[in-house]
Amino acid sequence: MSKNTLSVTDNRTGAIYEIPIVDGAVKAMDLRQIRLNQEDFGLMTYDPGLTNTASTRSAITYIDGDQGILRYRGYPIEQLAAQSTYLETAYLIIFGELPTPEQLAKWEHDISRHTLLHTNIQNLIQTFRFNAHPMSVFISAIASLSTLYPDARRVTDPANRRLQVERMVAKAATIAAFTYRHNHGWPVNLPDDGLSFIGNFLKMMFRMTEVKYEPDPVLERALNILFILHADHEQNCGTNAMRVIGSSQADPYSALAGAAAALYGPLHGAANEAVLRMLEEIGSPENVPAFIERVKKGDGERLMGFGHRVYKNYDPRCRIIKATAEEVFKVTGHNKLLDVALELERIALQDDYFVSRKLYPNVDFYSGLIYRAMNLPASMFTVMFAVPRTCGWVAHWLELLTDNEQKISRPRQIYTGPEVRDYVPMGRR
Ligand code: CMC
Repeated sequence: MSKNTLSVTDNRTGAIYEIPIVDGAVKAMDLRQIRLNQEDFGLMTYDPGLTNTASTRSAITYIDGDQGILRYRGYPIEQLAAQSTYLETAYLIIFGELPTPEQLAKWEHDISRHTLLHTNIQNLIQTFRFNAHPMSVFISAIASLSTLYPDARRVTDPANRRLQVERMVAKAATIAAFTYRHNHGWPVNLPDDGLSFIGNFLKMMFRMTEVKYEPDPVLERALNILFILHADHEQNCGTNAMRVIGSSQADPYSALAGAAAALYGPLHGAANEAVLRMLEEIGSPENVPAFIERVKKGDGERLMGFGHRVYKNYDPRCRIIKATAEEVFKVTGHNKLLDVALELERIALQDDYFVSRKLYPNVDFYSGLIYRAMNLPASMFTVMFAVPRTCGWVAHWLELLTDNEQKISRPRQIYTGPEVRDYVPMGRR
């Protein structure tokens, strides 16, 4: 008869242990009983990069990386991208259910109320150099929100948490837009609650001298889709950072800034920026084979926008973004870098190096092309990722704080440094 346990024989001592298997996992703490003797600390697991460690139970996002499946709260990403808006999806991700019409109207109203940014933060953004990387400015401005809202430290109060959640989702967009305007030396456009969340975001970013700014419906829809696709992705590096910082009960703005900082790395959310720079460097489709050969040599160059820790199949978000890019180009005109990207994908998907390692295009492979078509500089791309990912980060922060199994995040280490030794005075070194 099958049993949901794991039998372990410790060959050092001959002792046999029976360890429960729950939800396909063993508890790391159950291994601590495996000891050489009473003084022994007990067995640990060693997992750099947490590649095979579940750090939480989560009901937010489901990914099947082998099948290429992504769902938020059970809803397939394809259905949400086709039918939902970013703000509705954010509500779903944060609160667990699709909103009723009344709930959605209230949510939209509450969010638009909070899009206004205190002038202190606006002034702070103005103090950064014009060529400061927008992600550095974004991270700093998000962190500085904790100076305005000291009440946010009351993380155990549910009503207070809800207020901070609304502020974070709303103000991430305004900070992103003000950062972009500052980089260009343009005056900011204040939020306009006569527009949708995305329409308002486009206006804050792109309105120049027009009296009445009308967001282009194709671009508004495209941005809704991109924001939906970027809204959450379970326990990725940035989300893990949010949870780690949140686990100390730090205020959520500090945790959010930490999550955004993690996103800023080129192996994570800054890959979209790196993809565009790579496409520009390759220049035209005939240069693709030589570039692929360089990547395969493995001397440090990677095919950016390819590969994923979880997906060992085509990233489902990439398929939707590729189709969206084609719609956008009908409005903005053809971008020759798309031809380079298509050629890269075509050649890589036939090449044994990429096929054998199950390296497929990921979410970042085509998204930069849409942002470039909107005239955004590559340095803004990761900010465009961080704005919608804010709703995922806050959803995980809320889930963490209401999860009785969670504790302050504090891993173990295997110490590899010197044994105890005596201090050597300077004159004898
Ligand atoms: N180009 C060339 N080779 C690659 C690539 C790539 N993009 N990605 C992985 N490999 C190779 C890697 O060299 C290794 O080969 P070998 O087994 O011969 O040593 C093998 O594939 C496994 O790679 P890994 O680095 O152990 O895999 P990982 O799960 O630790 O890394 C990754 C995942 C996303 C960091 C990596 O695939 C990568 O660097 N991709 C490029 C950057 C990128 O597009 N990042 C965006 C990820 S999706 C959005 C997000 O997370 O924010």
